[in-house]
Amino acid sequence: MSPVTPTGYGGPESERAGAAREARSGASGRLWPILDHDPVLRMRGATLALGGRVLWRDLDLDVRPGELIAVLGSNGSGKTSLLRTILGEFRLASGDATFLGQPLRRGHRHIGYVPQQGLSDVGVSLRGRDLVGLGLVGHRWGPGLPSRRRRKIIADLLREVGASEYADAPVGLLSGGEQQRLRVAQALANNPRLLLCDEPLASLDLRRQSEVVNLIDQERKARGFAVLLVTHDINPLLEVVDRVLYLGNERFRMGTPGSVLRQRRPERALRCAGRSRPRRRPHPRCRSPGTASPRPGHGQ
Ligand SMILES: Nc1ncnc2c1ncn2[C@@H]1O[C@H](COP(=O)(O)OP(=O)(O)O)[C@@H](O)[C@H]1O
Ligand SMILES: [Mg+2]
Repeated sequence: MSPVTPTGYGGPESERAGAAREARSGASGRLWPILDHDPVLRMRGATLALGGRVLWRDLDLDVRPGELIAVLGSNGSGKTSLLRTILGEFRLASGDATFLGQPLRRGHRHIGYVPQQGLSDVGVSLRGRDLVGLGLVGHRWGPGLPSRRRRKIIADLLREVGASEYADAPVGLLSGGEQQRLRVAQALANNPRLLLCDEPLASLDLRRQSEVVNLIDQERKARGFAVLLVTHDINPLLEVVDRVLYLGNERFRMGTPGSVLRQRRPERALRCAGRSRPRRRPHPRCRSPGTASPRPGHGQ
């Protein structure tokens, strides 16, 4: 894998680093300026109901450039549905949501997606480089792209994620960690501003989990995109995560991993976070529902 230098989130130092990266960005396209502090994704009072059931309500969420947010919650709490809503597949029952200032819509090329899926879903005989190439189909770099240019973009992406070695192997024969590298490369093909990853660590051993987390973290720092990553376990992400969004019982809780997950009674926080009418005297743990401060220097 080509080395990537972590950059921080602002100031002249990261500006210089950004310019340097821009100069060597090559065929994968230009990198996004991480000095821009406008949220890439903004949701206000967002409520999603599917099959007559509310999954989450009154969700307020700002995702800032370069930020990594872990999405947690029990099975069926609406984590995948949140990502699919951002992808324009589900419409909100109420509230607003914008990506880069525009209403959510299907097929936005600047949203990368690593879906929740198993080995059998990707086809046993497809080669690694073909899987990555699928990320280019249907977009600016799609059918009209000259094949030499296309091959070079794919080769650069494979190198970037450290997957060149097994690029010609059938995907079905690769390990879970190797497959995830390819899926990340595919999701990066159109230079996303926001990367959605649905349980990318599922069924990986601890070492592979750590490798995939490091890959996503390095790429978001190098390219400046934000990440929403669904996981059942926050532990592999503790070193890199900026904030946690916890979904459950139609409600949400947002904040640092400590503030969201290390409470003695997180279910109380959840109740408060989704409460549509505040208590007369707010509970001390519920003063700023949905907008708890992230680590210093990370916005919102
Ligand atoms: N297209 C759909 N139509 C109706 N219900 C759906 C649809 N997709 C998901 N659901 C339901 O929404 C709930 C949340 O699903 P999901 O977002 O996949 O949960 P999670 O990813 O948190 O496990 C589930 O009860 C699921 O059955
Ligand atoms: Mg899911």
